[in-house]
Amino acid sequence: MHAIHLLSALPLLSSVVHARAWFPWGAYAHPVTVKCLTDEQAQDLATRYVSRYDTGAVTTLADLTSIVTTDFTSYDETATGGYSNQPATQGIQEFFDSLTASGPSSFTNAVQYPLFVLHDCNTISYRWQFEAYSTGYNATVPAGKFLKFKGTDIISIDLEKMLVYNATSSGDWINLARELGQIGNFFP
Ligand SMILES: *[C@@H]1O[C@H](CO)[C@@H](O)[C@H](O)[C@H]1NC(C)=O
Ligand SMILES: *[C@@H]1O[C@H](CO)[C@@H](O)[C@H](O)[C@H]1NC(C)=O
Repeated sequence: MHAIHLLSALPLLSSVVHARAWFPWGAYAHPVTVKCLTDEQAQDLATRYVSRYDTGAVTTLADLTSIVTTDFTSYDETATGGYSNQPATQGIQEFFDSLTASGPSSFTNAVQYPLFVLHDCNTISYRWQFEAYSTGYNATVPAGKFLKFKGTDIISIDLEKMLVYNATSSGDWINLARELGQIGNFFP
């Protein structure tokens, strides 16, 4: 019986983390209880974060300040060149610059949204879907062709600010290249 009671108490104990402000003289302020993410908060953060990549979603820095921290870091396999796995983006300004960069693109009217969301206390993982239309640029398919592929993100949340401070992304971009007819034509 004792073991059963202990086990049933565990989810309650693990649903909060105790963050305490530290002072140089070694004292701690009164403990501040930071609650772990709820399912609804995880879904909301994932949906709002991934939507920042939608076509036209970001036009001013204010479109990012309610979702990422100023020292936000993003890792993915595309932004710094072919599968380099280097930090793609460091800081909110660099993120803003990458999202608002102009130039020709093979797709337009892109939207991205989570298909399903998993989370622990402050980290969220989700499968996302990308949907867009071909522009005909660098493609062997006509403009207007419907495109879609999937990817997976892991985002870490600063629970006091409720903002994303770190993101790791991996997308099936090869499927987009296939849908655009780029393989063997624009890329090896
Ligand atoms: C952010 O994510 C990257 C890639 O997963 C990881 O290497 C790095 O340690 C993380 N940084 C922080 C501050 O959590
Ligand atoms: C268009 O294709 C060329 C290769 O033919 C490539 O170097 C260039 O990066 C592509 N541009 C875009 C925006 O994909």
